Amino acid sequence: MGYLVLARKYRPRTFQELVGQEHVVRTLSNSLAEGRLAHAFLFVGPRGIGKTSTARILAKALNCPNGPKADFNPDDDICKEIEDGRSLDVLEIDGASNRGIGEIKDLRDSVPYAPARGKFKIYIIDEVHMLTPEAFNALLKTLEEPPAHVKFIFATTEVQKLPPTILSRCQRFDLRRIPDPLICAHLRKIADAEKIKIADEALLLLARQAEGGLRDAESALEQLVSFAGKNITLDHVLEVFGLAGPIETRALASAILAGDSSAALGKVHEFRTRHRDPVRVAQDLARHFRNLLLLQIAPAEAEAELGKAEKQTLLGLGNPPEKAHLLSLLEQLLESEHHLRLSLAREVALEILVLRLCEMRERVSLETILKKLAIPGSETRAESAASRPAPIPNPAPAPAKSSLSKSAPPAAPSSAKETFLNDPAIKAALKDFDARIVDR
Ligand SMILES: Nc1ncnc2c1ncn2[C@@H]1O[C@H](COP(=O)(O)OP(=O)(O)OP(=O)(O)O)[C@@H](O)[C@H]1O
Ligand SMILES: [Mg+2]
Repeated sequence: MGYLVLARKYRPRTFQELVGQEHVVRTLSNSLAEGRLAHAFLFVGPRGIGKTSTARILAKALNCPNGPKADFNPDDDICKEIEDGRSLDVLEIDGASNRGIGEIKDLRDSVPYAPARGKFKIYIIDEVHMLTPEAFNALLKTLEEPPAHVKFIFATTEVQKLPPTILSRCQRFDLRRIPDPLICAHLRKIADAEKIKIADEALLLLARQAEGGLRDAESALEQLVSFAGKNITLDHVLEVFGLAGPIETRALASAILAGDSSAALGKVHEFRTRHRDPVRVAQDLARHFRNLLLLQIAPAEAEAELGKAEKQTLLGLGNPPEKAHLLSLLEQLLESEHHLRLSLAREVALEILVLRLCEMRERVSLETILKKLAIPGSETRAESAASRPAPIPNPAPAPAKSSLSKSAPPAAPSSAKETFLNDPAIKAALKDFDARIVDR
């Protein structure tokens, strides 16, 4: 056989080999065991997470000898035929290139004929959202009441494009993005089998940039082998994908959190000299801040998603930043991403973005002050507000009375500004603000 890309060579052959879709495997296995089988299945989810693979595995489970059963032997003849696309009973149709009413009418005409070898005649329509409205209409009746020997399996990345009439006739399964630790473990298995040497950090970075898609992660590994041979380092990954390394991302993030614009700009310049893609840098930052937030809000989920080692590294970064601060950083990053992508001077755009992010710290501190001022529990402020006289007419201001003046009246404030500054609540808030600035 000719050369097979890694993503095809390692296509899962059984339910057990499917990574990260336990909820789907469990439901399908139970239905198969109890013989409660729908006549139309729909697999939904983003690209490269196992929809087509699951469709083929289900076809094998339905038509395997002594089936239907979930624990079929993938080396049985019938299963191998299905895997190689040679089975007469399993027709795999690409919805993108057979989208018209003519093709669907042909399909419909073939439905009444009994299967050749297996129990069922199975129609797999991939990218089913590409069918035309007329084609969907032509399918409706058959899909509603197909003969007992017919099963339909659909897969799509764009479920919102399917008409409700089709959706309501299918049993729907939403496949999920695959968490980084599972992608890493899977890539490690492939690397061992292919005798590829690759550092753990490099694998983790590969997994991250795949954003939950296993095919993308496998293709990236393959691309790296073409670039660097079978000995892959973190630097190779950074170079090929224009990524910022995790240590560098963390350093830039820390400078931003501390509001240290000079250190942050220094980091951005380092990235520039190493030709890191500005959009990637911004995405890595967003991911880092999002992980810090997740760690505070749902630590258990953070560990499941990021892995123990990454969680420990994040915890080791010191005092957790305020949630409000992280949220505003994330909002700013998300707002700017589109602009950054389209910008003709991306490097400059990244610098401006980073400077804005550095300012966030002060903005959040001010918000904290304002929040404190609004706390109804701070009676001193309420008191002082109550005891404050009506606005002082100029040019002969009456001496204002602050709460402080009750015990040891300071020199009578000469202006509204002084009255404001003498207010204990304002004093406390300003002290807090000063402490933060000194902190820096
Ligand atoms: N859940 C998974 N478990 C194991 N391998 C997977 C999984 N998802 C994807 N892969 C790998 O990616 C390849 C492509 O998977 P598959 O064709 O099933 O994805 P898909 O969801 O149908 O993608 P697309 O939306 O692009 O059609 C597989 O051959 C396999 O190598
Ligand atoms: Mg597919």
